[in-house]
Amino acid sequence: VSSAASSSLAGQPTVAWADAAVVIIDQTALPGTERLLRLTTVREVIDAVQRLAVRGAPAIGVAGAFGVALAARGPAGSFAAAVEALRIARPTAVNLARAVDRAASQFPAGPGAVLAEAERIAAEEVASSDAMARLGAALVIELCGDRARLLTHCNTGALATVTGGTALAVVFALHATGRLGGVVASETRPLLQGARLTAWELGRAGVPFRLAADGAGPFLMARGEIDAVILGADRVCANGDVVNKIGTYSHALGAARAGIPFLVVAPESTVDPDTATGADVVIEDRDPAEVTGFGGIAVAPAGTPVANPAFDVTPHDLVTAIVTDRRVIRLSIGQSMAAVPLGAT
Ligand code: MRU
Repeated sequence: VSSAASSSLAGQPTVAWADAAVVIIDQTALPGTERLLRLTTVREVIDAVQRLAVRGAPAIGVAGAFGVALAARGPAGSFAAAVEALRIARPTAVNLARAVDRAASQFPAGPGAVLAEAERIAAEEVASSDAMARLGAALVIELCGDRARLLTHCNTGALATVTGGTALAVVFALHATGRLGGVVASETRPLLQGARLTAWELGRAGVPFRLAADGAGPFLMARGEIDAVILGADRVCANGDVVNKIGTYSHALGAARAGIPFLVVAPESTVDPDTATGADVVIEDRDPAEVTGFGGIAVAPAGTPVANPAFDVTPHDLVTAIVTDRRVIRLSIGQSMAAVPLGAT
């Protein structure tokens, strides 16, 4: 992996193809260091995905597709194994396996066709962000009125997609039109995507926000400081269950208790009609060291046993609405989604 220092990443897509390499913003280095990584082998792409140098459901899908483009330029005999390794690099977000399969399907037409398909997937995610921003902003205004105070979790901005974002794209759209009351970003332990990445994006965009510990979210809602929760998804199941960053479920319970909308913003590329419920999703368990320490500093006694699920499942009956790039799926608290199959778009 060769890295290039960059004084400003303004305008830089999170994932792109350039000069026979996958170029990503190195999210492990943010917010302290802004740098790009040039990934020139499938192994480097897999490693970047697993280390969360590139992360967020749409972004890992695009990175995986470009990884297939790298594989297609290599020996034909190793293509199938490379594709399989890419598609299982992380198990929970449906975007990865789906985008890898889509790019790989073009292999018979040659490496150029594979790359063209990967570029199409990237372009579709950019267009999706714009559509979600529009639909989501309209929904927030409809449900909460003007100048809503929102709480978000993890990072759903440009860094989780290509440019734009999912839930954070809605926040940016409301801010741009003067219709945002403020944002609380929850820090998102253990890897601090909220503190490191969302705070970085919101700060650069000049959006007024506060950072809060994850556990503060439900209390801020109870105290009347939040009008709606808005966040993303790694997989939306056929029954409307939402699989997203660990901590999402706690915010959903808090929102239900406080009686405020719980809104999920995710592109159709994250909606998975083939997975019936959240119980059917493989939840990634990550290294215990992520919980017992941070940045090389131990925060727990040596040898402490750990639970480190990277994602959780929010049952559909806690979800007020799911905004995709094509539709707003309205669910309401306590009402089963069984009659609204997500496969029909
Ligand atoms: O482990 P991560 O950082 O890849 O998890 C990301 C999330 O959970 C996001 O909320 C989700 O991918 C939606 S982002 C558009």
